[in-house]
Order: sequence, then structure tokens, then C-alpha cells
Amino acid sequence: MIHSRLGFASILGLVLACAAFTACGDENSGSGGAGGNAGEGGSGGSGGTGGTGGTGGSGGNGGNGGTGGAGGNDLVMTEADFDCILGWEKVRSFRVTNKLGNLDATLAAANAPGTTDYPVGTVIQLVPFEAMVKRAPGFAAESNDWEFFFLEVSEMGTKIVQRGSKDVVNQFGGNCLDCHAKALPEFDFVCEKGHGCDPLSLTDDQIQMVQNGDPRCPMP
Ligand code: HEC
Repeated sequence: MIHSRLGFASILGLVLACAAFTACGDENSGSGGAGGNAGEGGSGGSGGTGGTGGTGGSGGNGGNGGTGGAGGNDLVMTEADFDCILGWEKVRSFRVTNKLGNLDATLAAANAPGTTDYPVGTVIQLVPFEAMVKRAPGFAAESNDWEFFFLEVSEMGTKIVQRGSKDVVNQFGGNCLDCHAKALPEFDFVCEKGHGCDPLSLTDDQIQMVQNGDPRCPMP
């Protein structure tokens, strides 16, 4: 158990080093990170109160429908909606779920990359502290309606440090959209490998170790 925590910390170091290597990580003298944009919560109205944390996941989403109008579903993630990513589906390197109950469509998009956009409600994470969430059409043209998140995770749960479409940066000043926009259009901003993004210098084994170290997961 202790090992996994130590592993998380040291792999975190790797991620840091890796991100510092990339072009996006340049000039981050002030990388401490811009601190809490207020985000744009609120719109969920009474949503959000669900989620008992843990794997409860879908419980929190019912409220979103209640915003009425606007037509169709949206997914306004609350901190309680995030959970242990090891409980999600693994597709190649990343973890994925759909918090609006549309997992089949999400997996179809993930398993036939390039054929269709990801459906609303999709949540993808490669590492515990970064997420991309597919919002309703019209949320943000520049990101094809992806909302990016920079998170703080601990045994206590998830804290949203930053959220948005174009201004979210990781702890090294790397802008999520800048990198992910390099994915070829048919891949819907999902980088993986060979989609056109500058590669991360993390092996799949290292990525798996960072995922295994998600501190929100129950201790084995
Ligand atoms: C330096 C460029 C870069 C930056 C900055 C960056 N990413 Fe990524 N991201 C990548 C690459 C490359 C991958 C694919 C890694 C792999 O599978 O080997 C990736 C993978 C991901 C994935 C898994 C799905 C996918 O696209 O493969 C998510 C989710 C993700 N990043 C979210 C974020 C978020 C959120 C931020 C900002 C807080 C961010 N990323 C910042 C380059 C970047």
C-alpha cells in the first residue's frame, strides 16, 4: 500500500520532468498556476448534490437535466462526480467513462477512433489530476465542446483547481487546449499516440503506474 503512494509521488516527478521537457512547458517561471478561476459551476442548478463520491458517479447527474430549457443533456461536473479512475474502462492508455449513462456510445467512439466524435457525458483521464469532459453542443467551439480540468486529488477526494475550454493549464504552465488541438480533426482532440500531438515522454507502463497511484481508489 505504502508502495503505491510512493510510486505515485515518484511518478509524479516523472510527469513533471516530462512536461518540463515539452515545448508547452517553457517559460513557466510562474508555473505555480494561476489559481482558482471561479470556473463556471452554477449552471447546474440543483445538480451536483448527488455523488456520494466513491463509485457512485451516476447519482450526481440526475440534477443536470433539471436545468430545463437548453434542450438535451449536459454534464456539469462537480467535484463529487470525479472518482477513482481505476474503476473506469481502460482503452489503450487512458481511462474513460460516461457520466450520463451513455457508455456504449463513448466506448464505440474510443474503439473506432476517427469515425465519430465522443458523445456528451464522456469523461477521459490519462492521469488522476487531468480530465477532459464532453459538454453539450455549444459549450465551446474552440475545443469541440470539451471542458478541460486540472484537479487536485487525495484520499479525501477531488478538488477542481481549474476548468474551462481554452485557459486551463497544468502545473507547468502547459495549456491543455494548445496541445490537444494538435490532434488531427477526426480524433476529436484526443491525443493518444500518432494522432498528431507532441508526444509525452511517458511510457505506457509509467502511465499505468500513475493511474494505479490514484489516491482516491480504495486501498487494495
Ligand atoms: C505538452 C502537451 C500536453 C499538454 C500541455 C496537455 N496534454 Fe493531455 N495529453 C497529451 C498527449 C501527447 C497525450 C497522449 C499520451 C499517451 O497516450 O501517450 C495526452 C493525453 C491526455 C488525456 C487522455 C486522452 C488523450 O488525449 O490521449 C487526457 C484526458 C488529457 N491528456 C488531458 C489533459 C488536460 C486536462 C490538460 C491540461 C490540464 C492536458 N492534457 C495538457 C499532451 C498534452
